[in-house]
Amino acid sequence: MKVPEVRVEKILDDPELYIIRVDDDRIRYFEATWDIPEGITYNAYLMKLDGTVVLFDLTKKEYTEMFLRELKKLVDPREITHIIVHHTEPDHSGALKAVLEANGYRAQVIGTIFARNLLQGFYGEEVVKNFKVVKDGEELDIGGRTFRFITVPWLHWPDTMITYVVEDRLIFSCDAGGGYGIPEAIDDSDEDVVKNYLPYVTKYIVTVIGHYHKYIVQNIKKLKELGIVDEARAILPGHGLIWRHNPRRIFEHYEAVGAGVPTKDKVLVIYDSMYGFVERRIGIVLDELRKLGKNPVIYKFTDREAPAVSDILGEVPDSEAIIIGASTYEAEIHPRIRYTLYEILDKANYEKPVLIVGAFGWGGVAGKKIETLIARSKFDHVATVESRGMPLPEDEERLREGVRKLVAWIS
Ligand code: FEO
Repeated sequence: MKVPEVRVEKILDDPELYIIRVDDDRIRYFEATWDIPEGITYNAYLMKLDGTVVLFDLTKKEYTEMFLRELKKLVDPREITHIIVHHTEPDHSGALKAVLEANGYRAQVIGTIFARNLLQGFYGEEVVKNFKVVKDGEELDIGGRTFRFITVPWLHWPDTMITYVVEDRLIFSCDAGGGYGIPEAIDDSDEDVVKNYLPYVTKYIVTVIGHYHKYIVQNIKKLKELGIVDEARAILPGHGLIWRHNPRRIFEHYEAVGAGVPTKDKVLVIYDSMYGFVERRIGIVLDELRKLGKNPVIYKFTDREAPAVSDILGEVPDSEAIIIGASTYEAEIHPRIRYTLYEILDKANYEKPVLIVGAFGWGGVAGKKIETLIARSKFDHVATVESRGMPLPEDEERLREGVRKLVAWIS
């Protein structure tokens, strides 16, 4: 099996700062759920100050050995004086116990009270014996620098905080500001790299943090009001690119995804079609959409293809509207659409209009069931157009009318 690479690069001379980035191209399903053929990186940072060595986050347990090997090229682990744990999910904390063992348990571990309790549960009493609990806004003098800790709950767990190194204007943000993918660059200085990477950021936000997306907007507002987003010289996340060419850009992207800001004319169309009946209807829908100047983005489940639900989720926040086409299957919504819809309503629950298109054989059920689910969400149900077998001329007119109603809703 292929072994991930570890990239180590010096980020700054003063303070002396390095990234230790594990490029995980072996992973297939993040959190054992989200299909990410693009992979992911786990970023840790090491800062050397006068008589002080600070490690910001770590890596996943399975990559501990290679992480320690690279860490040892930068510093004797026994010299690490502080380990800041921004967030305890094991993609960042998995190597903690091994690093503390290599360190002789000399380092003070710093985090929130939630982090302390979670680390104790994950790795045992020993890792929290020398734990410093910090509160929101608390500052510590470490190596002659002011480290300010700011809690950002639900980005991505209740334990989560960021660190702002005041004199150097650096934000260490862990999950916040991160994305999927293994960018070829370390930072955002190449626009092509950034453009390729941002869709993976959206996909990451929705699948990982989407359930809490209102907290994205709240927490970034909080950081902005503290003035640190505007003054930051760099934002250094726990996944993906470092933002130092245009640091504000990543939080602006997070805000837009959190708020569901639409891209003009983008309509997301998701459907299954077992034998072509739904597909015939969607063909009519697409024709009408295009006549009205809309750009459909299409994901279909057929007997030949099954797109990743994680990719579909990443398309929801910037869509103006959604069209769901579903077969009735054993008196239920087709299983692929049922699961997709379940995840959309959980992870990407936005105020956007929805048109339902259905086809059935002996009895139509899917449309009503989708309506019921939509009614419990933030989405707005515009219309349901459902009928038996092949669409008749009157079905075609109802489908076109449904699309016109949807487009009018957007405007
Ligand atoms: Fe990257 Fe929530 O861990």
